[in-house]
Formats: sequence, structure tokens, C-alpha cells
Amino acid sequence: MKRVLIFILALALICTNALAAGISQNGTSVTVTDVPEGGKLIIAGYDEAGRLSASRIYAPENGTINAENSISGAAKTKMFLWDMNMLAPIEMTEQQPSAGSKMLVAYFSWTNNTDGIANHIADITGADKFEIVPVEPYGEENNNYYDENTRAYKEQYDNSARPEISGTVANMEQYDVVFLGFPIWYGKAPKLIYTFLESYDFEGKTVVPFCTSGSSGISTRELVPLAPGANWLDGRRFSGGASRDTVEEWVNSLDIEIEEEPEVTDNKMTLTIGGAAFTATLEDNATAAEFKKLLPMTLDMSELNGNEKYYYLDGNLPSAASNPGTIHEGDIMLYGSSCVVVFYKTFNTSYSYTKIGHIDDPAGLAAAVGSGNVSVEFK
Ligand SMILES: Cc1cc2nc3c(=O)[nH]c(=O)nc-3n(C[C@H](O)[C@H](O)[C@H](O)COP(=O)(O)O)c2cc1C
Repeated sequence: MKRVLIFILALALICTNALAAGISQNGTSVTVTDVPEGGKLIIAGYDEAGRLSASRIYAPENGTINAENSISGAAKTKMFLWDMNMLAPIEMTEQQPSAGSKMLVAYFSWTNNTDGIANHIADITGADKFEIVPVEPYGEENNNYYDENTRAYKEQYDNSARPEISGTVANMEQYDVVFLGFPIWYGKAPKLIYTFLESYDFEGKTVVPFCTSGSSGISTRELVPLAPGANWLDGRRFSGGASRDTVEEWVNSLDIEIEEEPEVTDNKMTLTIGGAAFTATLEDNATAAEFKKLLPMTLDMSELNGNEKYYYLDGNLPSAASNPGTIHEGDIMLYGSSCVVVFYKTFNTSYSYTKIGHIDDPAGLAAAVGSGNVSVEFK
């Protein structure tokens, strides 16, 4: 466990921008040139929940590394250039949350005080919510703070205690900002929060801690090293019954951009790709109507031909395919009866599709989808 942690620490201390200087990628083939002595390329694979699943390390030959940016079974990969002699990143760049950040409120609450604050934050920001629930619930005996035999007391004074969490955050990668809430137990965050932080990759995310307590202030010093590469904002303590207005005042004072929900009417949907949101207009046909019934959904779309991302749905949609002649950047099409395609370039085609809709303003779409596979949320 410790070795895995050290490795995750090492990985997470640097970001993909470290590779800006000498990297080129063609499909999954990666070439890094001018690698300094001791430099090695680490390609890390992450599962759907954003957890490290596997990794490969490539050494240079004559200052050049040739590598494959793919890990079997991984939902996403990241590349890191690492100085193995110094055990330090070769380059580091600071990451800030982008405008229109996607947010999550993750919190543990035993007697529902923190739960109330988490609800206010989710309501104010539109953030998704994830309650951190222990697999084994804490018993009423924890009310007796001073009893050294209670589970909470024993865990809080045991450095290695990591109580198991029930369930996982779906697609943690999509979140730029994570509000992290907990009660104060014996002056610190409950060990369940330690488990949570060690379960995901927080590199590049902004973590905003908040707590409730009887009187103690928030303590995050011991949490920060558990989420390496994260940008931690100052924490805030609330009393259990803090009002929505109090919470809102705090949220508004934070250095984060709150995502404006684009207005969605009956024939509209939103595609969210990384931090970018695109409004699309649906066609007035049976295909679009059935597609809309599937929303919201997040599709891990595959790259094809440098102009489209596609995903095969589990079931079929009604189709009435014809050859459109020209595919326009931003077209959302059905190929066959189950393959959803988002086109990010304009070109002529000889294939037939059923049109589902079109992104109203596709400027920035190509940059948002990038050159590889990409997760797209439709809602
Ligand atoms: C085991 C335990 C330890 C606690 N330790 C502290 C403490 O050190 N300082 C404090 O001010 N409050 C302490 N409290 C009180 C809680 O922090 C407070 O009631 C909090 O609002 C509970 O949040 P929750 O309802 O979300 O679980 C403790 C409560 C429990 C159950």
C-alpha cells in the first residue's frame, strides 16, 4: 500500500504540460525528444473513476523516447516526464480551474450537520453530490467522545486507519473543483476522508475543504499530502445550522468560476467535454426524440479519422439514413442504428447517416475533443 502511495504521489506531482517542450503524438505513438539525463516517460492508465489502474515506464535511447500512449483496459491515460535520479518532475506548471468548472460536493456526515452545508453548496453552485458513506456505519457509541474504546476514537488515533467507503464517484475525471466536507473528529477530519483522498487522482483539481464542528476550527494540514498535485483553497468551518446565505457568501468569495447552466429548451441539449459546454439543437425526427430520452448520459467516445468521435449505444434508435453530401463540424449523427457520431470537422462524405442534431456554435469543439478518445456528457 505504501509503495503504491509513493508512486501515486510521484505521478501526481507533475502534470501533462510537463511534456510541452519535446513531445509529438501520432495516433497512440508518442515521441519525446531532448530528454534530459535521468528522464523517463511514465504512461499511467486510469479507470472510469479516475483511479490509477496500470502504468508503464519508458527510458530514452540517445535522448529520445518512443512510446505507446495506450494502456489496455484504461478509460484514460496521462503522460509524465520524470527525473528518476532526482525523483522530481522535469517541468511543472501550475493548474488553475478553468472558467465554467465542473464541480462535485463530496462529504461525510454522521449526524447530518455537514449534510446540510453540502446541500446548500450543491444548490448554490449546481455541483453534483457524492455522500461518502462508510461500508461499516459508525455506531451511537461515538457520541461518547471521551471513551477511548469507541471506533471513532481508535481510528482517529491510528495513523494507518483507512475505513472502507461504500461506492465510488462516477467519472471523477470530469470534475475540476471538489468541495470536500466533513465533521471535525478529535480536532481533525475523520479517517474516512483520508480513504477518500487516497482513492482518486486529484492532480490539477481544486479542492475546497469545509467542515462543521462543535467549536474546533478546520484542519487540513494532514489532508493536503494525500491529494498531491491538487490546488487546495483555504478551508472554512461552519456551525451545524449555518444558513444558505452564510454558505452563499462564502461560495461567492472563492476564487472559482461557477458554471453557468446553458438554457435548455425542448429541442436543445448540452454537450459537456472537459470544461467546455456546447449547446446543440436536436432535429425534429424520431431518432432525436428517442436519443433525448436517453439523456443525461456520458459516453466514452472513440476517435476516428481525425474528424469524428463515435460510440455504439447498447440498444438501437429509429433511423432513416441518407447521404448528407457534406458533414459539417458540430453535426451529431446516427450511423446505422446504434452508433452516435459527433463530427468535429467539415468534409464531404459518401456514407449515410440519420441526423440527430447540430452544435449551435462549434467554435472550440475540435480543441475540446482533442485527438484521442474523449468523454462527452450529453444532457
Ligand atoms: C467522535 C466525535 C468527535 C468529535 N470531535 C470534535 C472536536 O474535536 N471538536 C469539535 O468542535 N467538535 C467535535 N465533534 C462534534 C462534531 O464535529 C459536530 O457535531 C459536527 O457538526 C458533526 O457533523 P455531522 O453531523 O456532519 O456528522 C465530534 C463529534 C464526534 C461524533
